[in-house]
Amino acid sequence: MGDVRSRLRAAGYTLLQSEPRLEKLPNFRPDVLAWASNADGDLVPWAVVEVKNRLKQPEFALPALARSRDLMGTVEHYAVIDGEWFKADRGVRSLEPVDGPTPPAYGSQGRLTDEGLATSLLVQRLWFEANRLRDAGVRVGDGFPSGTILAETARPGIELPEGAFLPVRPDVLWRAKREALIEFASRGSSGSSSHPAVASAVAALVEKRLTGTVLDPFCGTGSFLWATLDRAADRGVQARFVGYEINPRLADLAAGIGHGAPSPVEIDKADAFRADFPAADVIVTAPPLHVRSEDRHALLNGSTTTDGEVAAVDRVLRALKAGGRAVFHLASGFTSAERHASYRTFLAREFRVAALIGLPRGALSGTGVRSVLVVIDRAEPSETFVAQLGEDWETQLEPEGAALSAALEFIDPAATPRVPGRP
Ligand SMILES: C[S@@+](CC[C@H](N)C(=O)[O-])C[C@H]1O[C@@H](n2cnc3c(N)ncnc32)[C@H](O)[C@@H]1O
Repeated sequence: MGDVRSRLRAAGYTLLQSEPRLEKLPNFRPDVLAWASNADGDLVPWAVVEVKNRLKQPEFALPALARSRDLMGTVEHYAVIDGEWFKADRGVRSLEPVDGPTPPAYGSQGRLTDEGLATSLLVQRLWFEANRLRDAGVRVGDGFPSGTILAETARPGIELPEGAFLPVRPDVLWRAKREALIEFASRGSSGSSSHPAVASAVAALVEKRLTGTVLDPFCGTGSFLWATLDRAADRGVQARFVGYEINPRLADLAAGIGHGAPSPVEIDKADAFRADFPAADVIVTAPPLHVRSEDRHALLNGSTTTDGEVAAVDRVLRALKAGGRAVFHLASGFTSAERHASYRTFLAREFRVAALIGLPRGALSGTGVRSVLVVIDRAEPSETFVAQLGEDWETQLEPEGAALSAALEFIDPAATPRVPGRP
């Protein structure tokens, strides 16, 4: 395999992958994949090489090569049998002996637009640096400067361990960096970030209200902030994103991610029960579960509680501006437990509880409890959209999913078109 890689390098390919794990094709691993620029200057999977020994006929490599073409759109297909190079015709039906690989038609200096590959290259880079430190006898723990290692480069791109520089489309790089930092920080454990399908639904639920300040007082790794930030960027809305997180490791991680974000981000390492929040136009948050405090929290309805979730909701709602919207991901007890009944009545009287979307076990990361998405507007009370989702909750909450679409239509009805001639 080493010889095949050096021949490809000599032909001008700079980005090579051996037996890559392809995110969308888990059961398919080509022997060597070489990326190169297409006519538009984007880096794409260009050449694939199947490396075999003692294969009776080179043609036996054709099905795997044809599969690469069908699944990845590769342009050049090679088989290397016992060190001899063969090249497939355009239709990948026959192989001809060749001296070696042909140089890529448009060079290899394209811009990477593949988020999965960018993420895995960034994770590889973090492991490369971590192993280097380990080899030097340094313990790689919570203080490992992942954010600094992936800090901004002069041009948007990735420094490969062997010294080459790979330009990456800026929006792809921003998403890949945050995925890589979170993946590296969780190092094989399931991590504490909210479920991506929940983060994406939360962002959709606040999309129409995005402006000014977006706050997550219990931001963890920041997944709600990042999903919302992406929505704002897609809509061309300028907003600032503010997070609070009490766990220093998670706060540093979120701050490291926020550093490369395309909008202003501030992450405060602070106790959200004591911090002074900025007035917020939008709040997106999943408060910690099962927190009971020794102090009783005074609630807006005049009562007191030691229940952390109710206290968190109450505290957070104080920061919500008139006309603003908050979306909470809470344990379902918030909407069902008898002990919270009077607080729920208070909320329904003083706010617009716009939607309650019940989710089954598995949606609230790291717990086995059922949960609920609660959408609250600081506005006049009105009807509430209510849904209880089942096992297909992820599909239901996809951007075009039935439950999410129905909820959005209810909470932000499309303006009725004006009839010409009528006021
Ligand atoms: C359910 S998790 C939020 C996960 C987050 N949405 C994410 O995707 O990473 C709750 C977070 O609140 C943090 N937290 C707990 N108590 C806190 C406090 N008093 N102030 C600020 N953050 C706190 C926890 O460390 C945890 O990261």
